[in-house]
Amino acid sequence: MASNMPATRDLLETPVQPTDAAVTVQGERFRRYLSAERIKKRVAEMGKTIARDYATTTPILVSVLNGAFMYTADLMRAIDTDCEIDFIKLSSYGDEKVSSGEVRELKSVDAELEGRDVLVVEDIVDTGLSMEFMKRRLAEYNPASLRVSTLLHKPTATEPDLTLDYVGFRIPDLFVIGYGLDYGQLARNLSDIYILDEG
Ligand code: IMP
Repeated sequence: MASNMPATRDLLETPVQPTDAAVTVQGERFRRYLSAERIKKRVAEMGKTIARDYATTTPILVSVLNGAFMYTADLMRAIDTDCEIDFIKLSSYGDEKVSSGEVRELKSVDAELEGRDVLVVEDIVDTGLSMEFMKRRLAEYNPASLRVSTLLHKPTATEPDLTLDYVGFRIPDLFVIGYGLDYGQLARNLSDIYILDEG
């Protein structure tokens, strides 16, 4: 199964636009960056591509808790062919805005992954440490194939060797919240994605 997605480097850059919509979370100001409408459109495109790429098989989506829950729900509804779901949970940033550099598995998958076509569904790839850990971990189950999808990617922060099969938006190396992504467990319920206002 060859992916029809363009390579990550060819995807559109997503510059920060001036906007008057802003939120303050834990004393920090964030500007609206990706509207719910824009996210919806992109997730629908990704779902179509994934449905086409997996047309002859029933993939199992492995959603990465907690941040990817909203993206997973929308992506799964955008895939109009058979697919299954399971969840994995890794240690996250805690309440900080920078990675601790240490990744641990807090909840493993329950489904039998051997011989299955596995698609990891992640909200954001920053340093790439979590995704590298997950790919190594899931490969131990001997799946028939293992690919990854992330809604957001900070390419300038990521180890260059990491392969990402489906990427929604390439974004600058700034902290983002909303649409499942948190800052100190808050802001996951925002429908739009907001970016740290440095100005
Ligand atoms: P990585 O291991 O540095 O790639 O980070 C992956 C995890 O860190 C993600 O699954 C998120 O939970 C969290 N994370 C990274 N960047 C952000 C961000 O900008 N906002 C919120 N969470 C983030």
